[in-house]
Amino acid sequence: NPVVTLHEDRIASLEDLKAATMRCRECPLGEFATQSVNGEGRVHAALMFVGEQPGDQEDLQGHPFVGPAGKLLDRALQALGIPRDAVFVSNAVKHFKFELRGKRRIHKSPTQREAAACLHWLEDEIALVKPKALVALGATAARSLMGQAVPVMSERGKWLTRQDGLKVLVTLHPSALLRMLPEEREQAFEDFVADLRKAKSVL
Ligand code: URA
Repeated sequence: NPVVTLHEDRIASLEDLKAATMRCRECPLGEFATQSVNGEGRVHAALMFVGEQPGDQEDLQGHPFVGPAGKLLDRALQALGIPRDAVFVSNAVKHFKFELRGKRRIHKSPTQREAAACLHWLEDEIALVKPKALVALGATAARSLMGQAVPVMSERGKWLTRQDGLKVLVTLHPSALLRMLPEEREQAFEDFVADLRKAKSVL
C-alpha cells in the first residue's frame, strides 16, 4: 500500500522535509551521499515527475535532474512547451547510490528495500505539493508510486490510478534513452515526448 507511512506525523513543509531527509539513516545510502536531494519546482504544481534517485551531479549540486538525464528531461519538456518551473520534479529515493571505481562514482540502482524505506518521504512530498497527477519516470518510480511492480514497457503512455485516486502516467526513465544506441535515440526521444504529451492536459 503506497500510502502507508512509517511516521505518525506528516512533515509540514518542504524545508522541514529537506532537514529530515538530510538526517535520514533509515537505509544505508545517506551515510555515503553528499546530501539528500529532494523534489523542486512549483510548490503546488499540477504535475509532479518522479525519477529514481539523484545521480552524481544531483548529489554534488543538491538539485534533482540537473545532470545528463535532467538535460534530456528538459529537452522533452521544451519540446512540449512545458516550462520546467511549471512542474515539480522529484525522485523515489533521496540519496545517491553509487559504487566507487577509482575516483569515479558509478550509479547503482537502489534496492527495493531502499526504495521502500524512502517511500514515506516521497509520500510526504506528494502530500505537500498536492499534484493533480504524477509522471513515473521508469520502473523504480512506478513501483514506489503504485505500490507494486509495473511493467514499464507495456504500461508506458497509460494512466494508472493509485489507491488514493491519484493518476500516474508511466514512461521510461530518460537515462534509459541515454543508454540506447545513437541510431535508436531519436525515435526513442519522440516516443518519450509522445508519452509525456498525455500528461500535458493536466496543466
Ligand atoms: N536520475 C534520476 O532518476 N533522478 C535524478 O535526479 C537524476 C538522474
